[in-house]
Amino acid sequence: MTQKITANKNVGIIGVGAYAPETVMTNSDLEKMVDTSDQWITERTGIRERRISPADVPTSELAALAAEKALADAGLTIDDMDAIIIGTSSPDMFYPSVGCLVQTRLKANRKIPAFDLQAGCSGYSYAMVVATQFIRTGMFKKVLVIGADEISKMINWQDRNTCILFGDGAGAVVLGEVDAPYGILGAFMGADGIGGELLKFPAGGTRMPATEETVRQKLHSVHMEGNEVFKFAVRVMGEAAGKALEDAGLVESDIDWLIPHQANMRIIQSAAKRLKMPMEKVIINLDRYGNTSSASIPLALDEAVRDGRIQPGNIVMMVGFGAGLTWASLVLRWGK
Ligand code: UT7
Repeated sequence: MTQKITANKNVGIIGVGAYAPETVMTNSDLEKMVDTSDQWITERTGIRERRISPADVPTSELAALAAEKALADAGLTIDDMDAIIIGTSSPDMFYPSVGCLVQTRLKANRKIPAFDLQAGCSGYSYAMVVATQFIRTGMFKKVLVIGADEISKMINWQDRNTCILFGDGAGAVVLGEVDAPYGILGAFMGADGIGGELLKFPAGGTRMPATEETVRQKLHSVHMEGNEVFKFAVRVMGEAAGKALEDAGLVESDIDWLIPHQANMRIIQSAAKRLKMPMEKVIINLDRYGNTSSASIPLALDEAVRDGRIQPGNIVMMVGFGAGLTWASLVLRWGK
């Protein structure tokens, strides 16, 4: 197909799917590994258990499994897609990208563009906003957007500050043209590199290439100033949601469902309070999956669509935040 920018299309989600590995790790399992307790983890984070991917199953496999479900939900195949964008910060390897690996894994016949978008836990939200532009301009008709991460393979399992938080998973959507009044109504993205020090994976790149010493010092793992990230998250969630609402010409009370990035129950509660939203309108699966990074929003979306909470016509707000620091929000009217 030609990749020509033509028009101002209405863009929405026309298929959704998710996949999480079967192995469950509970808080009591963690009690045996680090100095922590089920009570501390539950009270401070809201997490009770998380899914852990097998050693031989990489991020691209979770991404492909979620994608297959989203494509089936849309009644389409990979050859109906014009591009693949994957939000991830735990790729199989530096390159090829997870996007290219998924394209091969799904046996795409067309040589469609495929790439990863790295924005920490905001990867999916960033990818959604980027993919929307391709369709809105008419350059592409359908884009497969995936949020997939296996942070369990990126953490120091002796560091109780981080290892209790994360789980593995993937969520996918098919974005395409939808009829008015459905589709994406507003979006917003932001970043603040100065806060980059608060949440980082220090070694293995060009700044600190892998050496025996970097491995010994456990620098190939997530390092986080939890408290500072917490404060940033509470502030930015409300702000980002507000900007997307402004863009859409909506107000807080118009939101039917809030799907926040699932990092900590207390962050979610504070954000909901700032948006004057009762917790009944907030989609939460953090208790069962932990923080699945870029997968958290599409995993929660998939669950809420499947169990019938999200209905055509509902206004859905998604807000992500993460390493970078980054944040992004998207508000849409659900339906095709
Ligand atoms: O996806 C985006 C990235 N991540 C996030 O959004 C995470 C944001 N931050 C958080 O969720 C929270 O800051 C944490 C859950 C990471 C930590 O909760 P906190 O309430 O901010 O705890 P804290 O770091 O202030 O630590 C309080 C105490 C400390 O002990 P002392 O110094 O008061 O004696 C920690 O050493 O809790 C201790 N602690 C633990 N105790 C038992 C820290 N981790 C644990 C643990 N089990 N796993």
